[in-house]
Amino acid sequence: MKTTIAVIRGDGIGPEIMDATLRVLGALDVGLDYDFVDAGLSAYEKTGELLPQVTLDAIAKHRVALKSPLTTPVGEGFSSINVELRRRFDLYANVRPAISFPNTRSRFAENVDLITVRENTEGAYAGEGQQVSEDGATATLVQKITRKGSERIVRYAFDLAVRTGRKKVTIVHKANILKSTSGLFLKVAREVAAQYPQIQCNEMIVDNTCMQLVMRPEQFDVICTTNLFGDIISDLCAGLVGGLGLAPGANIGADAAIFEAVHGSAPDIAGKGIANPCALLLGAAQMLDHLDQPENATRLRDAIRATLAAGDRLTPDLGGSGTTQTFADAIASRLG
Ligand code: NAI
Ligand code: MG
Repeated sequence: MKTTIAVIRGDGIGPEIMDATLRVLGALDVGLDYDFVDAGLSAYEKTGELLPQVTLDAIAKHRVALKSPLTTPVGEGFSSINVELRRRFDLYANVRPAISFPNTRSRFAENVDLITVRENTEGAYAGEGQQVSEDGATATLVQKITRKGSERIVRYAFDLAVRTGRKKVTIVHKANILKSTSGLFLKVAREVAAQYPQIQCNEMIVDNTCMQLVMRPEQFDVICTTNLFGDIISDLCAGLVGGLGLAPGANIGADAAIFEAVHGSAPDIAGKGIANPCALLLGAAQMLDHLDQPENATRLRDAIRATLAAGDRLTPDLGGSGTTQTFADAIASRLG
């Protein structure tokens, strides 16, 4: 029986990179059926709702979704639909690999191979209790960290290390200053780490981590951290390996998982047909691993790597003059 997944084509460059990704998956013969549903601005334009019930039902039913970026207004307007999806399905683990690829004009073309495991449901990023005083002079929010939230994300990071043959987990925190919240996260992380004697564990303060990542990224293997630090650090890591066009992310919970690109809807290049489809394609590779198709995941990653190495038909963000379509076709041609 074929597996069905929910597919959200998204906003901005979303539809362009999703079409390219599904063409490549077609060449890979993954045997998936797609249930197309809408979320975000495109859903609002069609149905008057940002997150229609049919979309929620489809994700709940199929338990796996491939999602293009959704636009969120900055500073005002509706809250992020991405954050809402993570909350609704309790997608507590945000898993973001950053791996060196050839021909990306990155400063680190060889020695980066790390995964950021970011807590995805709590902390400052969850935006709980956001308030601005009546006179507009003071703004507050609640930064809540729980034992349960910390324990399950650290456990996820260590289990991932065991499962994928990685050697080290670095716990990133700011417990020297944020003694209550980051302090609890670190305390729980130490307890969990003690249960995995086969995996090396070290601790690093977040600001130093940023410097270390830029100076010596090869020292990192798995990074585990809280929501807001993980948001920022994983973009830094994407920058190490050639930019957002190459950075995928998985949002994983006990009952559902959503696979996506780390980048947003890129309104500055939307509709031009020049967006790099690799981040969403690499998200699809994470999805294939999750669907227990590791051979197809590896074939897909190898085809992306070979196309980048060949250096032809690359999109402008990688210094080429190709289009989303020609780049995707070059990848698909290696899978036939
Ligand atoms: P962005 O990631 O959309 O764009 C940042 C820069 O990277 C832009 O110059 C863009 O052209 C470039 N870029 C991004 N993806 C690219 C690709 N595949 N190929 C080539 N160049 C690419 O971030 P920005 O501009 O801060 O946000 C735009 C919108 O996306 C906002 O509404 C934001 O809330 C939303 N967003 C959504 C996310 C999601 O759905 N997971 C994640 C991040 C942002
Ligand atoms: Mg982000």
